[in-house]
Amino acid sequence: MDVPNQCPSHDLRSFEQAQVVVLMVPFPCQSHLNQLLHLSCFISSYNIPVHYACSATHIHQAKLRFTDMNRLENTKINFHEFPTAPFLSPPPNPNSSTRFPAHLQPSFEASMHLRDPTAALVRQISATARKVIVVHDVLMAYVVQDIATLQNVESYVFHPTCAFSSFFDAWQMNGKPFLEQKEPEGLPSTEGCYTYEILTFIALQIEFLKFKAGSIYNSCRSIEGTYIDLMANGEFNKNKQIWAIGPLNMGIVYERRNSNRRHKCLEWLDKLAPKSVLYVSFGTTTSMTDEQIKELAKGLEQSQQKFIWVLRDADKGDIFTGDVKIRNQLPEGYEERLKEVGMVVRDWAPQVEILGHPSTGAFMSHCGWNSCLESITVGVPIAAWPMHSEQPKNACLVTDILKVGVLVNRWEHRDELVTSTTIAEVVKRLMASKEGEEMRKRAEELGVATQQSVEEGGVSRMELDSFVAHITR
Ligand SMILES: *[C@@H]1O[C@H](CO)[C@@H](O)[C@H](O)[C@H]1NC(C)=O
Repeated sequence: MDVPNQCPSHDLRSFEQAQVVVLMVPFPCQSHLNQLLHLSCFISSYNIPVHYACSATHIHQAKLRFTDMNRLENTKINFHEFPTAPFLSPPPNPNSSTRFPAHLQPSFEASMHLRDPTAALVRQISATARKVIVVHDVLMAYVVQDIATLQNVESYVFHPTCAFSSFFDAWQMNGKPFLEQKEPEGLPSTEGCYTYEILTFIALQIEFLKFKAGSIYNSCRSIEGTYIDLMANGEFNKNKQIWAIGPLNMGIVYERRNSNRRHKCLEWLDKLAPKSVLYVSFGTTTSMTDEQIKELAKGLEQSQQKFIWVLRDADKGDIFTGDVKIRNQLPEGYEERLKEVGMVVRDWAPQVEILGHPSTGAFMSHCGWNSCLESITVGVPIAAWPMHSEQPKNACLVTDILKVGVLVNRWEHRDELVTSTTIAEVVKRLMASKEGEEMRKRAEELGVATQQSVEEGGVSRMELDSFVAHITR
C-alpha cells in the first residue's frame, strides 16, 4: 500500500514549526466520521494544526454530508486521503433476521488496512512536532497501535456515544460485576444488538486500548453527569481521565433561510404551525422490511399529525459505488393523498435544520447517539424506536431516565412487527396529549441547559478548554 507522503495534498511545511499537532483517526461509518470532523473544527479553533486521515472515499463522504458547511469552509483541516483498499459494498438486506447493518462489515474490516499508512503519517508528523496527539475512534485502536513506539505521541480514545450506554454495554458484556448503584429500571439487554462478526472486531480493539492517555465523550454533564462519573470512576476506564465535551454538533443556526441551497422540506415547514410536525428518520444504518414500512405509513396517516418522513435504506459501505435502489414500498397513492399532511424525503435530509425548525414538534428516531443529541439540543422530544448496537440503551436514557421521549417498541419485542395502531398511539401521545406537552417542556429545559453547556463558561466548553490545556501542556 502507498505511504501517505506520496500524496500531493500533504503540505508538511504547514506544521514544520508546530508545537502540538492533532491527528484525527475516524472510523469509516457516517455518524463516526461526522463527529470527529466536528471535533476537528473545534480543536482547530484553538489554533492547533489538525489533521484528519481516513480512506479517500470516506473523507469524501464526511465532507459531502457535513452538517456545518460554512464552518468547514472556514476551518483549515489537513485531510489525508489514504488509498481505499477494495472492499465489498453490498446493499443492505431489509429482510435480515438481525437489524445490525451486517452488510457494512466488509468496509469495517477494510479499515484495518489503514494501519500502515496511519503509522507512516504519524511518524512523519512526529518528526517535526514537539508532540502529536492522536484522537482515534474507539473502533480504530487496532489501526493506531504502532504509535505506542513513538516517544512524543499520545493517544486519546473518542467515544461517539454516551457514557450511559458505553458503561452499561461493557457492564453487561463483562457479566454484570458489582455496581454501587441500582441497575437502571428497564435497562435493555445486549441480546440482538450486535452480530458475532462486529463483536469479534470490537474484541480485537480492546487489547490496544491500553495505550490510551484518556477518553473523550461526545456527551455532556447536563445530560448524563451521573453516568459520566460512573464511567470515569468505574473499572472499564482504568483510571484514565475523561472529558465530556459534547454536543459537538452545535452552532448550526437557521442561517440558510434565504439561501437557494435550502432543502424543499424546510420551505414546507416554513408554512406550518409551531411544533406541529413529526420528523421521522432512522439514520444511515437502518433498513426496514416492506411490511414494516407499510405499517409505519398507515400509522402516520392514522395519527392525523403532520410529518416529514425520511424513507431511505441504510448506507452501503461505499456510498459512491453503484445505484441506490429505491424500493417503492408505500401504499398506492399514499403520497398524493397525504400531500397536505406529510412529506416523504428520499434523498439526504438536513436533519439538524429540520429539528431546529420552529415547526418541528417531535422526532421519531432509531436513537443513534448523534440523533439523540441533535434532538435534545433543540428541545425536541423523541419517539424512540431503537434498531441495534447501543441504540436500545440510548433509548432507555432518553425515555426512562431523562423522560424526554416515549418508546415505540420495547427491545424485548424487537422481532415483532410494530403495528400501525401502536405507531399512531405513540405519535398522538407525543404530539397531542398533556403527557406529550410535559415531555416537550422537559425536553426544552434540557435543550437550554445543553446549549449553555457548550457556550463560554459552560460545562462542556470548560472540559474542552481543559482537554486543550492538557494536550498542549
Ligand atoms: C424481502 O421479503 C419480501 C417478502 O418475503 C420480498 O417481497 C422482498 O422482495 C424481499 N426483499 C429483498 C430486498 O430481498
